[in-house]
Amino acid sequence: MILKDAVAIVTGSSSGIGAAIARTFAAQGCHVVINYSRNADGANAVARECEALGVRTLVQRADVADDADCRELVAATLETFGRVDILVNNAGTTKFCDHANLDGLDKQDFLDLYSVNTIGAYQMTRAAEKPMRDQGSAHVVNMASIAGLAGVGSSIAYAASKGALLTMTKSLARVLGPEIRVNAICPGFVQGEWLEKGLGKDTYDRLLAKTRAAAPLHETASPESVAQVVLGLIIGGDLTTGESLLIDGGAHLGPAPGRR
Ligand SMILES: NC(=O)c1ccc[n+]([C@@H]2O[C@H](COP(=O)([O-])OP(=O)(O)OC[C@H]3O[C@@H](n4cnc5c(N)ncnc54)[C@H](OP(=O)(O)O)[C@@H]3O)[C@@H](O)[C@H]2O)c1
Repeated sequence: MILKDAVAIVTGSSSGIGAAIARTFAAQGCHVVINYSRNADGANAVARECEALGVRTLVQRADVADDADCRELVAATLETFGRVDILVNNAGTTKFCDHANLDGLDKQDFLDLYSVNTIGAYQMTRAAEKPMRDQGSAHVVNMASIAGLAGVGSSIAYAASKGALLTMTKSLARVLGPEIRVNAICPGFVQGEWLEKGLGKDTYDRLLAKTRAAAPLHETASPESVAQVVLGLIIGGDLTTGESLLIDGGAHLGPAPGRR
């Protein structure tokens, strides 16, 4: 797929990974829809950065847990640009809770995380299905996590919501072809505010150093490196659908035998 003059909706692009994806697409000449739920200032700042790269933007508030908001986001995109080529379901939320503390999560926590991380991606994909099919060649990328593969991460509820997103990626890939490819990205430790705020600075620094040291590539992901993988998946890999791609510098492999 060629991104020049394509149109991408990136949910949750007011900060972090979503913002980096929007900038990366814009650098390829792709017009971008910047979505936020609370951080309007961040979204507007990302839009200005994208426009400085020569593309058009639309900034739209939408809570992806709300189906009417999802439909409005797609409708506004069509009104502004007349097409949708790429949907990145990046919006995500969590509650940090030690996995051993089973009393730390209640039913509402699971429902809150599932509503955004899993149902949000479903609702956005459903809203964008028709215009994406009309393009003949379109792509959905779901931002999952190593948490969904390995049952790790900020809480059991978060890991479960991302595991469900991975399963949904396969189901959707099966029914949305041949016009739409659906793949998932699974970042490991991503440097930035999400983990720094959630873990606290000291734990964040300690875990960052430990993860880097353990990774064969001696590095963990950044929002920009995740965005590059999303780009690669879209512009290459025309026959890849229903897959998930792990980005963790190889940390999941563990040390080489004899180096434990
Ligand atoms: N950081 C990591 O280590 C890591 C690792 C693996 C996967 N991920 C995933 O990567 C994605 C982006 O996270 P990030 O690290 O870039 O954190 P972030 O900077 O906090 O970004 C989260 C984004 O999601 C948006 N969002 C949250 N709830 C929303 C809702 N209901 N509707 C629409 N947008 C909503 C936020 O917008 P507002 O601020 O405007 O609400 C923000 O733009 C998430 O799906 C996360 O699960 C992160």
